[in-house]
Amino acid sequence: MPYHTYPFELPPLPYAHAALHPYIDEETMRCHHDKHFQTYITNLNKTLEPYPKLQKLTLERLLTYSGILPYEAYVGIERNGGGVYNHGLFFEGLSKPSEEAHAPRGYLAALINRTFGDFDKFKECFGAAALDVFGSGWVCLGLTPLKRLKIYTLTNQETILKQGARPILIFDVWEHAYYLKYKNARAEYVEALWKVAKFPEMRFRAD
Ligand SMILES: [Fe+2]
Repeated sequence: MPYHTYPFELPPLPYAHAALHPYIDEETMRCHHDKHFQTYITNLNKTLEPYPKLQKLTLERLLTYSGILPYEAYVGIERNGGGVYNHGLFFEGLSKPSEEAHAPRGYLAALINRTFGDFDKFKECFGAAALDVFGSGWVCLGLTPLKRLKIYTLTNQETILKQGARPILIFDVWEHAYYLKYKNARAEYVEALWKVAKFPEMRFRAD
């Protein structure tokens, strides 16, 4: 999604709605991906309809430079564009529990160990940050402009782009992401996400 331009379309899930069972249930995936994600896409397109020049910009550029736009465009892009960007990363970053390695590998693994101590300590910090998000939001592992790892907590549909960072792993901690199965037990949902979260290969050295 970062490099897509208007008109935006809902990307299909790269796995079946029921594929993440028992960690994320099919009903949640249908509601979250097909309805919530679709709504952000529909509303982002509506936001951009009156602005032909903005329609040529990628989602990443829109979010990076939204602060200099007219207020209505700014608000629409922050809320809906942020929702499209974050949800795109989130759904792409999950995979079937049995099919892929659900732990970082290669250089990313080394960087996590160097930054946090080891993978378990990183999960502890990331999980604590996820629980610390007050209200609706996200927790994101990102690469800072100085190429260091940092855990970001984001409210509503903020992204890490304005801080010059690039996302590596993101967890949705809005209640719509887990309430049907986990009710108010966000900690159980976050624990379950580790069984289906997928870490990307990092193809460059960060120092
Ligand atoms: Fe969501």
